[in-house]
Amino acid sequence: MPADFPYRDPALPVNERVDDLLARMTLPEKVGQMLQLDARNDVKEIVSEKLAGSILHTSPAKMLEAIDLVAKTRLQIPLLTAEDCIHGHSFWPGATIFPTQLAMAATWDPELVERVARVTAVEVAATGIHQTFSPVLCIARDLRWGRTDETFGEDPFLIGELGTAMVRGYQGGGLSDPTGILATAKHFAGYSETQGGRDASEADISPRKLRSWFLPPFERVAREGCQVFMLGYQSMDGVPITANRWLLNDVLKEEWGFTGTLVTDWDNVGRMVWEQKVCADYAEAAALAVRAGNDLVMTTPGFFEGAQEAIERGLLSEEEIDAAVRRILRLKFSMGLFENPRAPDPARQREVIGVAAHQDLNLEIARRSLVLLRNGDGVLPLDPTKDFKRIAIIGPNADDVSAQLGDWAGDSGQVDWMPDGHPREMTETVLDGFRAVTPDRWDITHARGADIERLVPDPEGATYPDGQPRPPISQGAPVDDHLIDLARAEAIRADYAVVVVGDTVNLTGEHKSTATLELQGGQIALLDAIAATKTPMIVVLLNSKPCVLPDSALNAAAVIQAFNPGMRGGRAIAELILGLIEPTGRMPLSVPRHVGQQPVYYNQLRGQHGTRYADLTQDPLFVFGEGLSYAPVTYDDLSVSVADDEVTAVVTLTNTGSRPSFETIQVYVSDLVTSVTWAVRELKAYRQVAVPAGATITTEVTLPTSACSLVTADGRRVVEPGDFELQVGRSSRDRDLLKAGFRIS
Ligand code: NOJ
Repeated sequence: MPADFPYRDPALPVNERVDDLLARMTLPEKVGQMLQLDARNDVKEIVSEKLAGSILHTSPAKMLEAIDLVAKTRLQIPLLTAEDCIHGHSFWPGATIFPTQLAMAATWDPELVERVARVTAVEVAATGIHQTFSPVLCIARDLRWGRTDETFGEDPFLIGELGTAMVRGYQGGGLSDPTGILATAKHFAGYSETQGGRDASEADISPRKLRSWFLPPFERVAREGCQVFMLGYQSMDGVPITANRWLLNDVLKEEWGFTGTLVTDWDNVGRMVWEQKVCADYAEAAALAVRAGNDLVMTTPGFFEGAQEAIERGLLSEEEIDAAVRRILRLKFSMGLFENPRAPDPARQREVIGVAAHQDLNLEIARRSLVLLRNGDGVLPLDPTKDFKRIAIIGPNADDVSAQLGDWAGDSGQVDWMPDGHPREMTETVLDGFRAVTPDRWDITHARGADIERLVPDPEGATYPDGQPRPPISQGAPVDDHLIDLARAEAIRADYAVVVVGDTVNLTGEHKSTATLELQGGQIALLDAIAATKTPMIVVLLNSKPCVLPDSALNAAAVIQAFNPGMRGGRAIAELILGLIEPTGRMPLSVPRHVGQQPVYYNQLRGQHGTRYADLTQDPLFVFGEGLSYAPVTYDDLSVSVADDEVTAVVTLTNTGSRPSFETIQVYVSDLVTSVTWAVRELKAYRQVAVPAGATITTEVTLPTSACSLVTADGRRVVEPGDFELQVGRSSRDRDLLKAGFRIS
């Protein structure tokens, strides 16, 4: 190919290069640019026949093959390569796997999350991948939803804080930064408003409800420069998201000024034909998707023929295809991919992947992500300076790498080139952690105690209708008396029993929503048996999402929520139990007592009758923002002032204990009288402060008055002047909050 084609000249402005290249492209080449295809399939077909502009799920070997194939194409347009690197470089053996997004959310710390995303980008960029499908900005509401672990929890403000931080970390110095990767905000928007927790169901959600809670995190990242948005799978009010021109064009592009790239979710275009059945064929579906403003079409190979046929049949014009291709090419030129296709760099991989500094950061965030939920009689922390102790580490997740890493990691089921997952020695399980951090003279014993599941073939067949393999289904394992006896014996001989229970990756993720939130298999029987030994029991919940707890766990000496805490999580848990670190995590979502209480998110609308069911309270078990320290801290003397469009809270915190505390001071706004029903309270600011042992500190938290807004009946976000209450405290629970009035006029 002649080097003097203007589009090859980096000195020319991007728009001129795009114009030149577009003018040289045939229609199949243009349509091909819009395809983001699954590289687990035949890469030659994808690159050389479908002319795909982008690939995903590419093994290291296929990445090299794809690059070679592109070099043989007529115009040599570099590929955009993408992967779900959502808590580390999921599918690169030996990469750093961090806690899941839900666990990261429990830190409430944007700066830390930004550093994690930066490190992820550095590891990912070295392997030739340009785009990550992260962060997830969906709001967790019905916890049966299998993808709760991928969210930052239930609160739009917290999601916005952490989501923007993650985007900054991924994108680094911007499009031209070779250590940066494209962030993808997903799943736009409303996907998590499931029916019965079932994945990808119709989302019963009005435009006003979207604007009130579901859109704000997306608006924030759009305005702060997130380059790519991915759609969800859901339909709203009968309109598949892929065809939702109002949301994609009027709101995202026009109102928010988003000029980036839109990618569909997996086979969304095909789904409009074979699943949602709103299009008769791929030509209709392609036309609908392009007209709605989609750019990259993920894993719908039939779009290649469909879009061309749509033009032939007059359903679509070539100019409409051009507009999408223009956006894709602009992205590739702006990233400098024509000059530097950012191919895998083995030397750089050796320098950055899984290196000690990254593992240290992983330990730091794992420590910060742990939430101490109960510490009834102050059993924790155990004192490592004390004489000989025997600790029984019990439970199916006490020594389980996969439960610790969670979904989207190694052998979690999405890719085929890592059947054995990440190198075993990179992950410290809870058992490993105890062996590493307890004094030599202590005795650490182990018993599994119970199984969670048995995997059986799905009776509906080996593949889904689209030909993708159906994973086996998880059935609760029977109670195994022998395993329980062994565990009981260890607990009886021990000074403490640490019982690590939870779920598995087979109960997590897409297509894996759960009907219940109960601990599965033999776990409840195990907890009951260990509780009956009277050895103080410390329950560690190592799970993708919260579960409801049996009395034996609720009455345990202590309960720690760890979610999927990543490669270093086991060590962090041991350190926490031994008091080598302080508990600092706070719940990013609320937890029901019973699955039937759902949804229990804290920012409920006012106006329902009463606070209980006939047979159960409506009060959640644990609430958003909840989490204990080892030292008691009191909140006093709240005062509030309003000046210069800012509301300022001043509050005094006193640590009455003998250990330091790291508090997350949460500031909620309650609008006292509203023109529409509105949330009882909403988080609008927070601040994390260290309160040394015995110290009293006075601190200030400020928020703009514009944050005291609501969405009117006709869908406008406004501040309604009048009386408000600022509610400040350690959690969203009413009794944890100090309250003071203020007025906005
Ligand atoms: C479908 C999932 O919904 C999405 O989150 C993911 O990024 C894509 N598959 C690609 O794996």
